[in-house]
Amino acid sequence: MKTYSIALIPGDGVGKDVTEAAWQVLLAVAKRGGFALDGTSFPWSCAYFLETGAMMPPDGIATLRKFDAILLGAVGWPAEVPDSVSLHGLLLPIRKTFTQYANIRPHRLLPGVEGPLRSEGFDILCIRENTEGEYSGAGGRVHSGTANEVAIETAIFTRAGVERILRFGFVQARARRKKLASVTKSNAQKHSMVFWDEVTREVAKDYPDVEVSPYHIDAIAARMVLAPQSLDVIVASNLFGDILTDIGAAIQGGLGYAASANINPDRSAPSMFEPVHGSAPDIAHLGIANPIAAIWSGAMMLEHLGEGPAASEVMSAIESVTARGIGTIAGKDRTKTITQAVLAALS
Ligand code: IPM
Ligand code: MN
Repeated sequence: MKTYSIALIPGDGVGKDVTEAAWQVLLAVAKRGGFALDGTSFPWSCAYFLETGAMMPPDGIATLRKFDAILLGAVGWPAEVPDSVSLHGLLLPIRKTFTQYANIRPHRLLPGVEGPLRSEGFDILCIRENTEGEYSGAGGRVHSGTANEVAIETAIFTRAGVERILRFGFVQARARRKKLASVTKSNAQKHSMVFWDEVTREVAKDYPDVEVSPYHIDAIAARMVLAPQSLDVIVASNLFGDILTDIGAAIQGGLGYAASANINPDRSAPSMFEPVHGSAPDIAHLGIANPIAAIWSGAMMLEHLGEGPAASEVMSAIESVTARGIGTIAGKDRTKTITQAVLAALS
């Protein structure tokens, strides 16, 4: 029987609940689909940091590299560990070291979910550059704590990095409605963003069947609210994509529905699947986190592993559950209730 080895990193707060929910659903659908998932759970989290002084052991990356995929819940417990420490100790190094350069985030309304907008018929795929740009980590601070203190954070855009994410976006657009929005701020940022626009025009020549529209980040932010149905694939830099995908989550009804895949398209290292939401310390012990974003991320993992029919089965189960009004109102249904409903809908 085909067996996939999966690294589970539940992380902090609600990350633990939603990862468990997604895992149950994935095991059930694997059983039905005639393949197996062999999961190994790692306790790497802020609690682990408080115990050991690191978010993961020194050989953490080497350990993860052997898996077929990684399923992650959420990382962060800012009351105990600064986010800048926890995220740079676990989530961000995984994305970068494993060259998971394409962060894919689908934004559409599930049946029965009411978003805050009047328009319902939108289906947006955000493709966020995931390894460089504003998240490069280049910079530093000098004259710390003095009146002359300076903080520098340098965004780094490489031709290879910009070109590959755009190509990835064009391929996605080709398989969809053949529209690609390339997001910059080239009217204000005259080096990196003008460069991004240039690379977009060059790469576009190889995809003449895709209609390309350049947008400034501010304008597309407004468009996602006012005319989301006019957008198909959006390609954006790391920070711009981060911000736009929270807007995407908001218009699809909330962070409880926003799924994501950190993809290494060359498959030279494992890809990682995680809900867009964080650890939500405010509701962490209540058992009411919506597991749908995590389960949907699990479906994206199955798709990536080549188990397309199983992925579709999970999506159909999620949709039949929300269509019946389960998991559609924040805090109304418990994590376990929603998970049980998805499991029941599978059969
Ligand atoms: C996300 C998150 C992360 C990001 C944080 C937790 C570093 O907001 O996945 O969108 O900015 O990438
Ligand atoms: Mn974010």
